[in-house]
Amino acid sequence: MIAGGRSINYLRISVTDRCNFRCKYCVPSSPLKVIAHKKIARYEEILRITKLACDLGITKVRITGGEPFVRKGILNFLEQLCTIERLKDISITTNGALLTQEKIERLIKMGINRLNFSLDTLNPQKFFKITQRDRFQKVWDVIHTAHKLGITPIKINAVILRGLNDDEIEEITGLTLKYPFHIRFIEYMPMGDSDVEKKQQILTDEIIEKIETRYGKLIPIQRSKNDGPAKKYQIPNARGIVGFITAISSHFCSDCNRLRLTSRGTLRPCLLNNYEKDILNPLRNGATDEELKEIILTALTKKPAFHGLSDSNAKGIPISHMTSIGG
Ligand code: 5AD
Ligand code: SF4
Repeated sequence: MIAGGRSINYLRISVTDRCNFRCKYCVPSSPLKVIAHKKIARYEEILRITKLACDLGITKVRITGGEPFVRKGILNFLEQLCTIERLKDISITTNGALLTQEKIERLIKMGINRLNFSLDTLNPQKFFKITQRDRFQKVWDVIHTAHKLGITPIKINAVILRGLNDDEIEEITGLTLKYPFHIRFIEYMPMGDSDVEKKQQILTDEIIEKIETRYGKLIPIQRSKNDGPAKKYQIPNARGIVGFITAISSHFCSDCNRLRLTSRGTLRPCLLNNYEKDILNPLRNGATDEELKEIILTALTKKPAFHGLSDSNAKGIPISHMTSIGG
């Protein structure tokens, strides 16, 4: 599938809007509305849409939420997903809290060897402050279990906020000296009604400066074709990689190769643009495979050339909530 000169081969599937955490930058403190169960795409519906998207050129899928492992039957669903022949690469973004050794072993057995964990701090008290859950040790243990069982790469997403965890940038980066992990610093994106203030946002240049002050000049890693949006580096002699997702400070839209399927069964060509195309209701109303493929292609024609989030009034843009889109 081609959209605006970009070849789209990557589908992010949000399987639920629910989450067992309440991360400050993701969930507002005001009560969060969850989507009624009947409005959420059933697994067999997601599988049908995914197969059709694979017919159109999708080869990579990432499962996101909310938190994917809060949804019942997720492992059976993933097993079925793994049988889609054209799909070469399946990975999952998780907060890790509901994973166990048995579940990770099952993932590996079905062919899922890549996991992205969200972890913004190495300090248990701060972990509680950020997520509202006292689960640091559990998540830390799960990451190490995954590492021991051979999950690779293990990616760790960290959102840094001024006054909250900006004093941990060096320590988090330092994990790459000891472990072959990919740390990815994601610039905080103002998603509508988050409680985080604009002044807490820290851009990549500032993070890099702190890292280089501690560890010396970062060594850039050559981008390979179909690489995601992260700009990747290594600190000298590191085993792992440090990456930066510069969603705000530098548009990477021209490299963006992804399409999203929300848990409500809408296709969303861009995280930061509220255009969505409903595919679930046509499917439920009996659309043929060809008609559904047409819907997928139409959604892609709406992939914007760039977003406007770095504008000074960015806080005001009423972007849908991350849990309802799927990160
Ligand atoms: N800005 C940046 N990243 C966010 N995430 C969730 N909300 C935001 C936000 N407002 C990240 C989480 C998770 C990934 C899927 O999205 O840290 O790792
Ligand atoms: Fe849940 Fe991830 Fe949002 Fe945190 S960032 S509340 S773990 S969906």
